[in-house]
Amino acid sequence: METASRVAIERLTVSEFRCYGAAVLTAEGRSVVLTGPNGAGKTNLLEAVSFLAPGRGLRRAPLADVGRRRANATEPTRWAVSARLMTDTGVVPVGTGLDPSAPPGTLRRIVRVDGRPAPSQTALAELATIQWLTPQMDRLFADGSSGRRRFFDRMVYGYHKGHSAALTAYEQAMRERTRLLREGRGDDRWLAALEDAMATHGVSISAARLATAERLVRAVRVRSESAFPQADIALSGTVEAWLADKPAAEVEDALRALLRERRPIDAAAGAATEGPHRADLVVHHAAKGMPAAQCSTGEQKALLIGLILANGRLTASERGSPPIFLLDEVAAHLDANRRRALFEELAALGCQAWLSGTDRGLFDGMAAETLYVTVEDGQLRPES
Ligand SMILES: Nc1ncnc2c1ncn2[C@@H]1O[C@H](COP(=O)(O)OP(=O)(O)OP(=O)(O)O)[C@@H](O)[C@H]1O
Ligand SMILES: [Mg+2]
Repeated sequence: METASRVAIERLTVSEFRCYGAAVLTAEGRSVVLTGPNGAGKTNLLEAVSFLAPGRGLRRAPLADVGRRRANATEPTRWAVSARLMTDTGVVPVGTGLDPSAPPGTLRRIVRVDGRPAPSQTALAELATIQWLTPQMDRLFADGSSGRRRFFDRMVYGYHKGHSAALTAYEQAMRERTRLLREGRGDDRWLAALEDAMATHGVSISAARLATAERLVRAVRVRSESAFPQADIALSGTVEAWLADKPAAEVEDALRALLRERRPIDAAAGAATEGPHRADLVVHHAAKGMPAAQCSTGEQKALLIGLILANGRLTASERGSPPIFLLDEVAAHLDANRRRALFEELAALGCQAWLSGTDRGLFDGMAAETLYVTVEDGQLRPES
């Protein structure tokens, strides 16, 4: 399924980013394999690429940690990541980094697209979808629901433009409501306005998640013969359940009423105890009927890979281009069969994948045109 169009990085430039002073990599849209010893800078480079998507990057690090560390520095390093993105309509330069005009003591990430400042990071998501898998995500099924919501919401961004803005607006209203309730002030009208914002944004958040889950379920099922086990996915949550059999307007009313009713409970808890911020992504190993959290480590990894590949196929068919994949140390945890299958699926998707590992031998079977790069001490050495 070679896609007609694809978005890929032609050239990546990082400056003052983590262990990198200044580094340039010309990939020309090909997939990239980064190899090198522990601490060489492989994950750092993947993290740099992940900043070409909205959000906090694949480490979810505070912005101040990302800049190259200098002895006796009194202010955070002004790091930057930029890329020439190959798209349908030609090459688009994009860039991101710390905002030099942010007031002292505050840090802000700014984005430039095509030489101009973008109004928000969302502009990046409109150009490219970036999907990653890191060793930390091995605990995605075992840990709490927030990681799973984030993982899934990143997929939803790819299909619903307003999703990220709705999440921000919902969370802002929720925080404000919680603060008022905790302080025991806030008149009824004020609380009602915040709950109204939570209800409208909340229902659109849940509806976008449900629509994505439904399409993802279908995308998973298409590929019955795969080295990666099929995942059964579902969303659990009060609003999600209501939306199954009520029109959105009714669900908004119901959520508004529920929030009002729970004011005393939420005041005591110091948090909103109901709403889409409590929803969970429920994943089962379909063939075994086993909850993902109770599958073996390798099976959980394979389930995750199956999910992101399915999302990759869905993105390719709905957006015209597959995502750019960042797969940190994924090859090392797979048996030889699954490794080969992964490389074949990436090639079939026609995507640009960035993979890392300590050992070059792990990547036998990658497409012939792959660019191999040796990383050492923040230096990139592409193989000719
Ligand atoms: N802000 C920073 N400034 C300078 N160096 C940093 C900064 N943050 C992290 N580093 C260093 O960058 C180095 C490379 O880290 P990275 O995680 O990219 O290694 P890696 O090649 O992925 O190694 P591994 O194989 O162990 O995963 C580490 O030694 C780390 O301490
Ligand atoms: Mg690493």
